[in-house]
Amino acid sequence: MSEHRHESQPQPMIARPAGSLNGTITVPGDKSISHRAAMFGLLAVGETRIEGLLEGEDVLNSIAAIRQLGGHAEREAAGVWRINGVGIGGLREADTVLEMGNSGTSVRLLMGLAGGHPIRTTFAGDASLHRRPMARVATPLAMMGIEVSGRQGMRLPITVTGPAHLLPISYALPVASAQVKSAVLLAGLSAAGITEIIEPEATRDHTETMLRHMGADISSEAQPGGGTIIRLTGQAELRPAAFTVPGDPSSAAFPIVAALITPGSEVTITNICINPLRAGLLTCLTEMGADISLENRRQAGGEAIADITARGSALQAITPPPDRAASMIDEYPILAIAAACATGTTTLRGLAELRVKESDRLAAMAQGLSACGVKVEELEDGLVIEGRGGDAQPIPGGAKIATQMDHRIAMSFLIAGLAAQSSVTIDDSRMIATSFPNFISLMQGLGASIQPAEVS
Ligand code: S3P
Repeated sequence: MSEHRHESQPQPMIARPAGSLNGTITVPGDKSISHRAAMFGLLAVGETRIEGLLEGEDVLNSIAAIRQLGGHAEREAAGVWRINGVGIGGLREADTVLEMGNSGTSVRLLMGLAGGHPIRTTFAGDASLHRRPMARVATPLAMMGIEVSGRQGMRLPITVTGPAHLLPISYALPVASAQVKSAVLLAGLSAAGITEIIEPEATRDHTETMLRHMGADISSEAQPGGGTIIRLTGQAELRPAAFTVPGDPSSAAFPIVAALITPGSEVTITNICINPLRAGLLTCLTEMGADISLENRRQAGGEAIADITARGSALQAITPPPDRAASMIDEYPILAIAAACATGTTTLRGLAELRVKESDRLAAMAQGLSACGVKVEELEDGLVIEGRGGDAQPIPGGAKIATQMDHRIAMSFLIAGLAAQSSVTIDDSRMIATSFPNFISLMQGLGASIQPAEVS
């Protein structure tokens, strides 16, 4: 693997309105599943083979960490990797700090994974990652006997030291977070006894599905009032497995919305994971009147998959229920762009979590949309967006957007520029490589006008 490092200078880009988008594309593998496939491979003795792995910077950072913790990772071909794991209990202490770049998933899951071992592991990252809260992971890990120390407010750099004997816990998650759930489960693999997680709302269940596939004793039980209880038997042994990673619905979201808001478009994105715990955006868009069809539905590797076709549509405003948030937590920035192009006022609530993503996404979207001439109100936990009414009155645009080290803010405003009256510039496109390295070339292939912009 070649070490992937950013260009040192910001790379601004400009998106211009240039008519309809047409074609069929395949987006890279799902980021959540890719991280997990690589990490879980480390926890099995023998070879885990992964196809369709996302080779974005975030996942490459996880792979670098896996090597530092004693695993072998080899790239066979594009997206095809072999991980030779050391087994639960077999990790070795890393010689250096684990540099996790922009990747919250890497840090949080690896804190649990490494914390389940009697080694000391220090995590660091970029400025965005150093601002993100880690107490949500540190608190349950400390209950299991793991020593966690960080900067004030439990920010990175953070050091995790696992005890000789880990305690299983029963833990009710205060926030619906698949990352926290996964961190506790990964530590729980080393604990003597049953680790139990109570989720207030069901979050993405890739960890559970994949650990079960590797032979772990793990069960999920839906709760009558919503939410889920997950139970994992510790001191397990995992079998190496083969994983085929489906396309990332959180990446597909960008070309889907791009097609919907540019009249006359028809875009098909093949092989997308449509796990219901990831599909909230499709539900919202359908409620907005989007012309979206799912074909070739199938199951692979425990995940539901389909090809998705989106066509230019007149969208209507909606007020999605806050309890849908967990199933589309990363899709609100692009949903906000769809809402800005719709007729009527869209109210998005229950989204306080968006303030602690790669950026404060509520603030970033509110600032960006109003710079583009869209009326928007920023609430403590949401946004109220006054739609411009689609084709009749496109978003004015003509703005330069501060992307704040956030890949999804960058991609969302490039998509907005394709349907605006005048072009939209983003201050930096480098972060797009964390999750969707070929985003710009795929969009250009569909007919989008997205080019490097002059630095101003
Ligand atoms: C992820 C969970 C979500 C999501 C992130 C990936 C995962 O974070 O925003 O991009 O892979 O488990 P939270 O668990 O913090 O909601």
